Amino acid sequence: MKIYHAKDYQEMSRMAANLLAAQITLKPDSVLGLATGSSPLEVYDRLAMRCRQKDLDFGRITTVNLDEYKGLAPQDPQSYRYFMDTHLFSRVNIAKNRTFVPDGLEEDGAKACENYETILDSLGPVDMQLLGLGHNGHIGFNEPADAFPALTHQVDLTASTIDANRRFFTSASAVPRQAYTMGIGSIMRARKILVIVSGSAKARILKEAVNGPISPLVPASILQLHPDVTVIADEAALSLF
Ligand code: GLP
Repeated sequence: MKIYHAKDYQEMSRMAANLLAAQITLKPDSVLGLATGSSPLEVYDRLAMRCRQKDLDFGRITTVNLDEYKGLAPQDPQSYRYFMDTHLFSRVNIAKNRTFVPDGLEEDGAKACENYETILDSLGPVDMQLLGLGHNGHIGFNEPADAFPALTHQVDLTASTIDANRRFFTSASAVPRQAYTMGIGSIMRARKILVIVSGSAKARILKEAVNGPISPLVPASILQLHPDVTVIADEAALSLF
C-alpha cells in the first residue's frame, strides 16, 4: 500500500484527479469505479474542468458506482445517481448508458443486487476504483460486520453512518435506513484502488484501517491485502501516523 501525503483537501483532490486522468489517458476505454460523499467532490470538479478544456476524453469510459440508497429515485437530489449526474456525468462527454449505479428503486433486494453483479461481471475488472473512507471504516456501504461480504448486497445502515450522512438530508429521520452496495469481494477485484481521505475526523479510522489488524469490524482494513492500493490523505487525516 502506498500512502501519499497531501497538505490539505485541495492538494489531495489534485493528486487524485491526476491519477484518474492518467488512467483515462493511458487506457481511454477504462472501467472506473466511482464513489460519492464529500471526499471526491473536488476530484470530480477537476476532471470536469480538464474535460471541458479538451484535455481529457470520457468518450469511451465506463463507470460503476459503489452504492445507492434503497428507495431513492434517480431524480431524488439525495440519491447517489443524482449526485453522480450532477457532479460528474453531466459535465463530461461520457455516454450516460455506460454509467452504472445500483437501482435504488428496485424493491426486491436480492434482484437489485443480482442485477448489479451481472453488470459488474459483464464489464470485467474495474481498472481503477476510487474510494472514500466512512467514519466507521466502511467502504461503499460495507458496514462493520462479522464477515466481509463478497458480492453486492443490501445493508442496514448503522446509526453512525446515518448520523454522518444526515448533513445531506433535512434530518436524520430522512436518511434511508437501507442501501445496496458492492461487496468487499467486488471492490477487491479492481486492478487498482485509490483511496482519498481528508480531515481530522478520519485520522483514527485511517490509522486503524492501514496499520490495524485486518478485520470486518474495520471493513477498509481488507485493503491491506490488495496488491495495488494508493492512499492519498491530507495532513489532518494523517495526524496520528
Ligand atoms: C458514504 C458513502 C461512501 C463514502 C463515505 C465517506 O456513506 N457510502 O461511499 O465514501 O460515506 O463519505 P465522505 O467522503 O462524505 O466522508
